[in-house]
Amino acid sequence: MIYFDQAASSFPKPAKVIEAMTTFMQENGANPGRGGHEMAQDANRVINRTREVASSLFGCSNPRKALFYQNATVALNQAIQGLTWKKEDHIIASSVEHNSIRRPLEYLKRRYGISVSYIDWCDDEEKFLEAVTNKINSNTKLIAMTHASNVTGSILPIDTVMKQAKQRNIITLVDASQTAGHMPIHMQEQKIDMLVFPGHKGLLGPQGTGMLLVEGELDLTPLHYGGTGAFSEYPDQPDQWPEKLESGTLNTPGIVGLHAALIAYEERKNEIVPRETMLTKQLLKGVKALPGITCYGLGETAERMPVVAFNVNGVDSQEIAMILDSHYKIAVRAGLHCSPLTHETLETSDQGVVRVSLGRYNTDKEVETFLSAMKEIVIAYEQI
Ligand SMILES: Cc1ncc(COP(=O)(O)O)c(C=O)c1O
Repeated sequence: MIYFDQAASSFPKPAKVIEAMTTFMQENGANPGRGGHEMAQDANRVINRTREVASSLFGCSNPRKALFYQNATVALNQAIQGLTWKKEDHIIASSVEHNSIRRPLEYLKRRYGISVSYIDWCDDEEKFLEAVTNKINSNTKLIAMTHASNVTGSILPIDTVMKQAKQRNIITLVDASQTAGHMPIHMQEQKIDMLVFPGHKGLLGPQGTGMLLVEGELDLTPLHYGGTGAFSEYPDQPDQWPEKLESGTLNTPGIVGLHAALIAYEERKNEIVPRETMLTKQLLKGVKALPGITCYGLGETAERMPVVAFNVNGVDSQEIAMILDSHYKIAVRAGLHCSPLTHETLETSDQGVVRVSLGRYNTDKEVETFLSAMKEIVIAYEQI
């Protein structure tokens, strides 16, 4: 099987991640922070070490504000719904948000009557920035934005947007689901108040892990109330972070794997050109050379994520994905990719697109095999 669905979840995982998780599960099954005994303390220590590594890697000044959740979606919900909302409030997002941002925003619209502006992202930075500026008003409370599109791999100009937001005292939230592990992010330097990333995509950590990092004095109301290990004598949720925002037992084996993944990322993060970037150029060039193909997003010379989206004439994207899977044993993802807004922008809501997403462990040989398969498919459709 050739696995080209890395933007959904990465595979394979580094041996060090698997080893760390296996060893931990063989040696420690205690509940972190729920007991004074040595095993519980050890579990707690690795969790706190992971908060420290994540904070240092992503430029968050307080590791106690590095919070664990089971994926990016839950972390985004905590960030968005954890703020205090009133009817007059206004939020800005982009037209390429994943449902993990869009649906919580739509919920706030219904629940509080707030307004949301989705700014069109059509790979034109200037136009986008101008539209953001025009939409900011005195009620704009939050700018919530994906760092890169999970459909086309385009990178959004978050630095300029965040800087502008800070000048107007607007809270900023970045969804780094497609960029964490692929490109550097620094919350303080980039003026990001809240950063969310999954552990299981570009960072190559295990599923069941995601983080929300919060910078500065921003406060959040928890979405869940319950056991926090410490402060058991209080009837109310404690005010201390991280306990306030992390009720219930954490996914310790997953966090141990995430720790190993973060350390591995720290070691490779200064690579001049990440391996997956080189492969993406090769892939995009090859796909574009095929007849009857429409590619979406920027070209191979632009800085972009390792995601390539295309269609074959008017053929349903699911049909192409099914042929690749069943006939060639190549896993890609078709359809709407949990981002119907993006497809409205691309005008592909009916057809969807075929999304090929690459990772660190994919090879140029796999890309060549994929391109040969696509050539056969395209020729077959031309003959129908
Ligand atoms: C941009 C973006 N945001 C959020 C998510 C949700 O991530 P998770 O599945 O970890 O909740 C994804 C997953 O595909 C994504 O691509």
